[in-house]
Amino acid sequence: MFPIMACQEEDITFAENEFLVRDDDIFNITYPKSGTTWVIDILSLIKKNGDPTWNKTAPNWERVPWIENNGIARKLQVSEEKPRLITTHLQRHLFVKSFTGSKAKVIYTIRNPKDVAVSLYYFSKMSSFFDDPGDFDQFVKVFLTEEIPYGSWFEHVKGWMEMFGKDNFMIQTYEDLQTDLRGSVIKICTFLGKELDDKAVDSVVENVSFQSMKENQMSNFSLVPSEFMDQMKSPFMRKGVAGDWKNHFSVALNESFDKIYKMKMQDLKVKFPWDKNL
Ligand code: A3P
Repeated sequence: MFPIMACQEEDITFAENEFLVRDDDIFNITYPKSGTTWVIDILSLIKKNGDPTWNKTAPNWERVPWIENNGIARKLQVSEEKPRLITTHLQRHLFVKSFTGSKAKVIYTIRNPKDVAVSLYYFSKMSSFFDDPGDFDQFVKVFLTEEIPYGSWFEHVKGWMEMFGKDNFMIQTYEDLQTDLRGSVIKICTFLGKELDDKAVDSVVENVSFQSMKENQMSNFSLVPSEFMDQMKSPFMRKGVAGDWKNHFSVALNESFDKIYKMKMQDLKVKFPWDKNL
């Protein structure tokens, strides 16, 4: 399932089958609400050696566009940008076929799925791209299925983890970005083979803090009309913390979530920081 207002079948089919990957392409890949826009701002600042002008003058969807969104794959196909910075929420099995065998790089950012569910719940309330989520417990039950825009969190993660260990694949957690933002920026630079001096790294870190991004209208989606995103209901830059799920999950809901999580993830060799609490 995809939100019809943002993605048309034709765009997804074009992205999957006709889009030609270039070896210097850089992909920012996430399940929704896992830190997508955070990584967009980090990547665009790294590309500009820490100069915040681009981040302050062009909206994030122009700087690092979503390939599955209306008309974007065709535009990117003829773009002369070097490197092209591209975002996607596509599952691995729907992703651009020409990526296989290329040297294009993927940064996959993953977040504790309980926090993803909370963030998506509030986003679904404020955004007309998604159906009204109803009550939280009910919403979490839907989140645990495939019947959700962009598909199941579990399938997304398991699909992309098939690339784990490949040279052109980097995985980071939203929680890593929270605990060591500077270290995470340096790791991304190393992965991309991009050298930034200390001053440039400082500028990246300063400009992607929660507060800076919340105040930047090119990052906070305030340019989107309120009929599509009603920030009075819930701001896009909502809380920006790890562990907010503890304020939303009842003991019973948490137990049933853990049970399903364990069952669905049991075959996956890769482990995540939140697995140790299960
Ligand atoms: P919350 O709803 O938990 O606050 P995405 O960009 O994938 O849609 O994810 C949005 C989530 O990332 C929101 O989470 C948002 O607040 C958080 N986020 C975005 N930029 C952030 C930043 N600079 N620092 C911390 N969290 C950030």
